[in-house]
Amino acid sequence: MTDATTPETKTPWGGRFEHAPGEFQRRFGASLPVDSRLYAEDIAGSIAHARMLAQQGIISADDGEAIESGLIGILGDIEAGRFTFETADEDVHMAVEAELTRRIGEAGKRLHTARSRNDQVATDTRLHAKRRALEAIEDVDHLRRTLIRLAEAHADTVMPGYTHLQKAQPVLFAHHMLAYFWMLTRDAARLRAAYAAADALPLGSAALAGTTFPIDRTAVARELDFAAVIPNSLDAVSDRDFLVDITYACALGMVHLSRLAEEPIIWSSDEFGFVTLADDWSTGSSIMPQKKNPDFAELVRGKTGRAVGDLVSLLVTLKGLPLAYNKDMQEDKEPAFDAIDTFEDCLTAMAGMLSTMWVEAQRMRQGSLGGFMAATDLADHLAGRGVPFREAHEIVGKLVLACEREGRTLQQLTAAELAEASPAFGPDAPQWVDIDSVVARRDTPGGTAPGRVAEQLMLAREAFAADEAWLESRCD
Ligand code: ARG
Repeated sequence: MTDATTPETKTPWGGRFEHAPGEFQRRFGASLPVDSRLYAEDIAGSIAHARMLAQQGIISADDGEAIESGLIGILGDIEAGRFTFETADEDVHMAVEAELTRRIGEAGKRLHTARSRNDQVATDTRLHAKRRALEAIEDVDHLRRTLIRLAEAHADTVMPGYTHLQKAQPVLFAHHMLAYFWMLTRDAARLRAAYAAADALPLGSAALAGTTFPIDRTAVARELDFAAVIPNSLDAVSDRDFLVDITYACALGMVHLSRLAEEPIIWSSDEFGFVTLADDWSTGSSIMPQKKNPDFAELVRGKTGRAVGDLVSLLVTLKGLPLAYNKDMQEDKEPAFDAIDTFEDCLTAMAGMLSTMWVEAQRMRQGSLGGFMAATDLADHLAGRGVPFREAHEIVGKLVLACEREGRTLQQLTAAELAEASPAFGPDAPQWVDIDSVVARRDTPGGTAPGRVAEQLMLAREAFAADEAWLESRCD
């Protein structure tokens, strides 16, 4: 029989057990390798809890102080690399508590009064989610700033706009970049919503039903900067919606980044030649000397699968769980952490890549001349002169077909040819196919005309400044 009280095998529930867990069971049940990164949150939560216990007279002031200084010592040692977690501990909560008791003795054993690991882990994870949401917003904002700068630097660069990856209508490169800015603006908003979802205190719910001790949850919430106290102890220990929210924000953010990554991938191809990636944001080939590959962009695209998988994994873990805490929930952190880590790294990669790539403005402009991208305007010209749009569409469609057969562009059509196609073409018809005028004509709110894009850039700067102000108010 194994002695459950030998120092190596002792568990906090040893009293009820005659046998200590075997090595496999210990390793299988452990979450320390994943949750050790919650150490700062765990210690902050424990300090707030201990202070409250002392204030409420649940533990003595001396014990409260010993606990607090012991925990601060552990935090300092972890951060200085002087303390590393022992693998014998199941999770970060038990590891910190065990170390505290090793350091301060008896008082350390009082810390767990009026609390359970169930409300403790929920508290730690919420604190972590809040911190990581702010961090991720900062990274999102870094990329948003990069996109604004690209838009500013290329205010009059014309490029082909695509639908179905077929040339459609010319747009300003600035307009194209700002489309991603707004996508990321929504990502920042989703991260803020996830922050708000995490911003309520579970601690004080104990295992599931509350505690017999006269605790002060409001004081703990204030201490830990939570906006509210969760009103139902069962919900408090079993709610992981906030973790789903942040993982979803990251997964959708990754979907956005994978779309953005596709641009430098396709644009840097010889066929497009719209951008040249900086050397340190591309890689070569071990066999083909000429290659310059957009590996980092491809990795961003590839890692999106991971983040989406993380979200699915988390949702399925929670599905069908009865109230309140279930050990299944220990599986929540790995996917959530992975999604956040992945999103943050990919934001950094995309900002680095985009801020250093060379935009081949001439190639973009050249590309805008092909593909009959003024066809809609020519049809609009006819419609403006009384031809029903459907008929105008047909007339111009025939002109495109003829040009295509003869290898000519719409700009090369003569006045006589236009007049032959339709007597409704006006003398100003050639101006309608000039590529800059095609862009300038889209002078509607949200359109690609230079004045509208300048307007949009102002809105983008305003939205960005407002978000930065919010971030600052949270990070002070
Ligand atoms: N390591 C656990 C987790 O991550 C902490 C809570 C464990 N609580 C329990 N009653 N087993 O979920």
